[in-house]
Amino acid sequence: MSSSPSPQKYSLAMRVVHWTRAAIIIALLAVGILMTTVADDFPGKFSVLYPNHKQFGILVLILAVVQLALKGRGGVPEPAALKPWEQTIFTITHKLFYVLMIAVPVAGYGLSSTYPESDGVPFFFTSLPELLAKDEAASGVFAAAHAILAYGLLALVALHVAGVVKHRLFDRGPAGRILDRML
Ligand code: HEM
Ligand code: HEM
Repeated sequence: MSSSPSPQKYSLAMRVVHWTRAAIIIALLAVGILMTTVADDFPGKFSVLYPNHKQFGILVLILAVVQLALKGRGGVPEPAALKPWEQTIFTITHKLFYVLMIAVPVAGYGLSSTYPESDGVPFFFTSLPELLAKDEAASGVFAAAHAILAYGLLALVALHVAGVVKHRLFDRGPAGRILDRML
């Protein structure tokens, strides 16, 4: 066991938002891939999978904005003791995460709003207005953007987790305890 002091943590609010949103995003990626792969008579495809994919997707957008607001008010510990190249990858992935956590749901909303046969955009006890005009061509563009950006987000999650695992397994000292900052 190392005797160096334990590293500073993210604030409780940041930690709760991080893990809640991480769980939702992983589920959304799985459901998104499932619902676009299975046949139309798959049980609950249009009554359960699509509406929940949409409303939890909007929730991610809100949580990302909340997390940015929390960040603006502190709640982030001093940077971990990383090598400069690791710090650069960390900073870039974290910024990209925020960009994608906003861009993916926005593209999803654009897709639902413009798609002529869409069932609307439910949001728990209410539903969001569909602000964009129905337009088959535009919905195709939004669908492509949504899929490409979502798979980009999936790749980023893989890189992020690989980074955390790498620190856990191969680094000594504070960098090896990076996960503790978020627990
Ligand atoms: C972070 C949030 C989200 C993630 C990670 C996500 C992820 C995905 C993924 C991976 C797919 C499958 C893409 C494909 O292979 O074609 C998908 C499809 C879809 N998503 Fe999302 N999504 C999110 C938010 C949203 C939101 C907010 C909406 C709508 C309000 C939405 C609406 C849709 C629709 C309608 C499809 C089906 C597209 C099609 O049939 O071509 N998504 N999503
Ligand atoms: C969809 C999944 C995930 C997303 C979108 C995500 C996103 C993020 C973001 C944006 C940050 C930076 C927080 C900030 O300073 O603003 C972060 C930090 C962190 N994440 Fe994740 N994360 C995800 C999953 C995970 C998983 C599965 C793990 C664990 C294996 C993890 C471990 C960490 C740790 C340890 C930090 C703190 C790094 C530091 O000390 O600066 N994350 N995550």
